[in-house]
Amino acid sequence: MVNLRGVLALFWVNTGPTLGQHWACGENILRRSISGLAESDKMMPFGAILLPRGIMTNAHRPYRSVLYIPASNARALEKAQTLPADAIIFDLEDAVAPAEKDAARAALVLALQGDYGPRARIVRVNGLDTGWGAADMAAFAGHAGADALLLPKVNAPADLDAAHALAPAKPLWAMMETALAMLNAAQIAAHPALAGMVMGTNDLAKELGSRHRSDRLALQTGLGLCLLAARAHGCVIVDGVFNAFRDDAGLAAECAQGRDMGFDGKTLIHPAQLPIANAAFAPSPAEIELAHRQIAAFDEAVAAGQAVAVVDGKIVENLHIFTAKALLIKAEAIAAME
Ligand code: COA
Ligand code: MG
Repeated sequence: MVNLRGVLALFWVNTGPTLGQHWACGENILRRSISGLAESDKMMPFGAILLPRGIMTNAHRPYRSVLYIPASNARALEKAQTLPADAIIFDLEDAVAPAEKDAARAALVLALQGDYGPRARIVRVNGLDTGWGAADMAAFAGHAGADALLLPKVNAPADLDAAHALAPAKPLWAMMETALAMLNAAQIAAHPALAGMVMGTNDLAKELGSRHRSDRLALQTGLGLCLLAARAHGCVIVDGVFNAFRDDAGLAAECAQGRDMGFDGKTLIHPAQLPIANAAFAPSPAEIELAHRQIAAFDEAVAAGQAVAVVDGKIVENLHIFTAKALLIKAEAIAAME
């Protein structure tokens, strides 16, 4: 799904041969499994490529659109194989009624033998404190069709320890949806098995007792804490759902807010929401064009012995070039998805 030659070329330009020996294949979790590297040498994830932390602070495999699918919905499971989602959360938890839990799990075991193409496949299990969680973990701990397991209501690193013991080979993702999780976000993000965070904004609003506002004022502290934690520890992080799934303008506004804050993408509940999130979280043609001009101008400046270029009346320094190159790599990975 990633144009390896292009990504590698950019990677090489960014890092130079001295760091070349560190690149390796795999998802975010592999960065954490590289032993013997100093913290500063650890890798940032980017699809099949791992980039040194600090070189690419915000470049991941695309997670613009992350679609929830109730595992009890056979039609939706099938339909998802062709939907333009970057990732799918196959839900065994809240979207599945208690009486359907066992049948949904069995149906998902079969469905995940199917072909979901380049879409990341994440299974949301029931909490380990429920009657279904342990069976969910057992069913998917070794299932080749599950790229990662998403745990609901993670409160602290100990919750991840318990899940990791049951599924040591699977990257874990955490639903960030309790007040305690917001306060423990840094420790949760630092857990070596954690690859991604999903904001559970409905549950968080319920816990806070907050009212819905279109600017999400009450959620801003939690969103910001989780974003800081994810970025500090090299995790993917996607924003919460927008409940009014027929309100396109409302969704677009909330996607823009999440994108501008720094989220990698948005969780979605209906296929109609996919194109809106995909467009919002992708670099725009104007941004791509600007990135090329910044890189060219900076190269010229460096060749002339200077450390700063000026593009469109704004300074361009080394750090802006990192951002520009990350944006181009992201654009290329998105093009490879589509
Ligand atoms: N994933 C994949 N396909 C979906 C889908 C989803 N999340 N939601 C709906 N579809 C499909 C339907 O199967 C239907 O397919 P078809 O027309 O080809 O048969 C099509 O999209 C249109 O569906 P629509 O009739 O508009 O929606 P609905 O009334 O059937 O369902 C919801 C609306 C909200 C109940 C449904 O979208 C849903 O269950 N979403 C996920 C909820 C969830 O997972 N919540 C937990 C996390 S917050
Ligand atoms: Mg929840």
